[in-house]
Amino acid sequence: MALSSARAEFRAFLSVLSAVSLALLLTPRPARGDLSYTVQEEKKERFVIGNVAKDLGLSPQVLSSRRARIDTEEGSARYVDVNVNTGDLVVAKTMDREKLCGSRLNCILNHELVLENPLELHRVSLTIEDVNDNAPKFLNEIITFEIHESASKGQRYRLDEAHDSDIGQNGVNGYSLEKNHHFILSVHGNTERGKYAELVLDKELDREEQKEMDLVLTAVDGGTPQRSGTAVIHITVLDANDNVPVFTQSVYKVSLAENAPLGTEVVTVRATDADEGANGAVSYEFSRISDHAAQLFSVDKVTGQIKVRGDIDYEEEKYYEIKVQAKDGSGSASIADIIIDITDINDNAPKIILKSLKDPVPEDTVVGAEVAIINVQDKDSGENRQIRCSIQNNVPFKLNPSIKNYFSLVTTSPLDREKESDYNITITATDGGSPPLSSSMTIHLSVSDVNDNPPVFDEQSYSAYVAENNKAGTSICSVTARDPDWRQNGTVLYSLLPSEVNGVPVSSFLSINADTGVIHAVRSFDYEQFRSLKVQVVSRDNGSPPLSSNATVSVFITDENDNSPQILYPAPEGKSLMTEMVPKAALSGSLVSKVIAVDADSGQNAWLSYRIVKSTDPGLFSMGVHSGEIRVQRDISESDSMKQNLVISVRDNGQPPLSATCSVYLLISDNLAEVPELKDMTYEEKSSKLTSYLIIALVSVSTFFLTFIILILAVRFCRRRKPRLLFDGAVAIPSAYLPPNYAEVEGAGTLRSSYNYDAYLTTGSHTSDFKFIRSYNDSTLPAGGTLRKSPDDPFGSSFNEAHGEEVRETSFCFSFFSL
Ligand SMILES: *[C@@H]1O[C@H](CO)[C@@H](O)[C@H](O)[C@H]1NC(C)=O
Ligand SMILES: *[C@@H]1O[C@H](CO)[C@@H](O)[C@H](O)[C@H]1NC(C)=O
Ligand SMILES: *[C@@H]1O[C@H](CO)[C@@H](O)[C@H](O)[C@H]1NC(C)=O
Repeated sequence: MALSSARAEFRAFLSVLSAVSLALLLTPRPARGDLSYTVQEEKKERFVIGNVAKDLGLSPQVLSSRRARIDTEEGSARYVDVNVNTGDLVVAKTMDREKLCGSRLNCILNHELVLENPLELHRVSLTIEDVNDNAPKFLNEIITFEIHESASKGQRYRLDEAHDSDIGQNGVNGYSLEKNHHFILSVHGNTERGKYAELVLDKELDREEQKEMDLVLTAVDGGTPQRSGTAVIHITVLDANDNVPVFTQSVYKVSLAENAPLGTEVVTVRATDADEGANGAVSYEFSRISDHAAQLFSVDKVTGQIKVRGDIDYEEEKYYEIKVQAKDGSGSASIADIIIDITDINDNAPKIILKSLKDPVPEDTVVGAEVAIINVQDKDSGENRQIRCSIQNNVPFKLNPSIKNYFSLVTTSPLDREKESDYNITITATDGGSPPLSSSMTIHLSVSDVNDNPPVFDEQSYSAYVAENNKAGTSICSVTARDPDWRQNGTVLYSLLPSEVNGVPVSSFLSINADTGVIHAVRSFDYEQFRSLKVQVVSRDNGSPPLSSNATVSVFITDENDNSPQILYPAPEGKSLMTEMVPKAALSGSLVSKVIAVDADSGQNAWLSYRIVKSTDPGLFSMGVHSGEIRVQRDISESDSMKQNLVISVRDNGQPPLSATCSVYLLISDNLAEVPELKDMTYEEKSSKLTSYLIIALVSVSTFFLTFIILILAVRFCRRRKPRLLFDGAVAIPSAYLPPNYAEVEGAGTLRSSYNYDAYLTTGSHTSDFKFIRSYNDSTLPAGGTLRKSPDDPFGSSFNEAHGEEVRETSFCFSFFSL
């Protein structure tokens, strides 16, 4: 503190010192005193402020002579001047206090009055007094306010201060407000620091009543005359968002067809808000919506249009309830319900569901049995889900409606796997919509096998021919039976039905391949033993139980020329010697003897032909080629040798032919006594003596024998009413020459059923033939008959008829001739 005051003093001292030095330098006289004047601003030029001459005590002339003048500092304006004539200080330039001093309260202008001769300086201080020359002024002519209508009473709004360039009392002294309903003015502050006003809300605003108002604010100063300035307070009543948006309907009920294309308008909601601006700007949004519905619908924020944005499916949801809210800018909202009823469109085809299926179905399923259960469904509603079901016509099935949407597929006729083994059943379901939708399903049903078909032979009876002397194992024929059943039910196995042929099991003759049905001969057959056999073949399937059928196979054995002719008469050489007597008087053509031969074969193979291969006197005897009769070819003369020897060949007609030969001895003599050496006849044919003895013996015996024969024939003749033949000779056929073992099993076929031998027994008679007809084997077995087995010969060497059937009479007559 001490330091600062010291400094001030020092500075004052310096200024004084400089002033003195300046005065000394310029040698002016020091000023006598300062002049002070007060002048009101805005005085016009030449306005006399005061008289300096008078104030300085100088005469005006001195002033003039001393060239008094007002100096200003370099660059500053000179507002006052000195009238040297009068000594008056006059205004040189109108002064504006406000300009010169602004808001300074004391506004003093300093000038210097310079007098020359001697130079004198006088300070002239000019205090400029304020004049109320300025009115209060508002910075903005329009003061704008935005006041919420919700502003409460007493709320203050400071107003812009008015400004008055004048000072003091001339400054702003007060404010007044145009009379209005809502506001009053409250003025604060003082003149010095300035006064300001506050707008005070006296009564609540209502934007809806009056949106804005202009109030004139007047500011007044304290000068006289009082000046004032005005501004307009422009009040915009701001919306207090006292209105919520209001929907035009509280519930919007719409119906929407399913499958509506995207973008379809569902409904447009509209809410109005009485508020303005943001407060009245309604935006829409869903306030409560299921996640699902949110994916299907959208609402336009601005327009309130609700659109489809997803696939609407009636079957998924039939009804949506959505709350939409309308919200204004400040968040006031109200809510409306939107109820969307989805209407059904026939967009779902019926669905066929196979609930159960009996597959495969056995072919013996009873008619009407249920084989499948189906269920039909349609997600649509009403007519659109009324379903009709049908199947195609060409199958033995039908659909029976069952409970609700169930149908059972039942058979309408018996099934037969062998005719139709599987079915494709197409079920078509059609709903009642328009247009109707339909769907179909194909059930593949296979029919399983039941062993309901026995094997069936291609033929009921088979005939097979096999040449005798076949090799064992030869295949004879094959039988085939077919069974349409499946797998083992249709697998056919063949067998022979056990039976006997001539007391021998058939299996020892034939065998059958169980799989192929080929019948083989087990052994070699002999036609001469039996000519045919009949066997039952059974075909059996592998089902359980098996089914079988049978067929008859007749095997016919065909003849082969395997038997050479057997000569029954005359007996072969060595066994017994037979000689025929030929009467000397025998005429040409008369029957001398007959060669009897048999052939166990049949047919051509047994067709015998006789030839003389060698004779004592060729040309004397001739041979019946087929009859075997030896006849005299020419009349016998005395010169003819008594003993004649013929070598006869008997040949059958087989391929190749077989033959046998025999010798026939003929004695030309009327008397057996003439036969000399019968014994030697064979060896000594030319010895006529022996021959004649022998002949004599023969003739005598023959005579006796003939007598005996005649007696027998007479008896027979009587029985037969008519004599069949005449005879004059006798023949002896030993029983040992009977053909052996003729067994006939079956008389059918192409072969003769029996053999007939014609035995020609000849005497010397040339006029009549003695014909001895017999049936060699007249005893034909009836069909199916079997021959009884004889102990020593399995094929039956005897002709015993089985089953006690009567043996037909064998007209067999032999005469024994013995020497
Ligand atoms: C059933 O359909 C199947 C497959 O399409 C076909 O192989 C079969 O032959 C059909 N059966 C009938 C009986 O039409
Ligand atoms: C054969 O038929 C029987 C009924 O007779 C049946 O149970 C079986 O399944 C059939 N076998 C085959 C292979 O079809
Ligand atoms: C063979 O078939 C016939 C008719 O087809 C029948 O009468 C007979 O009983 C069958 N025999 C056997 C052994 O099956």
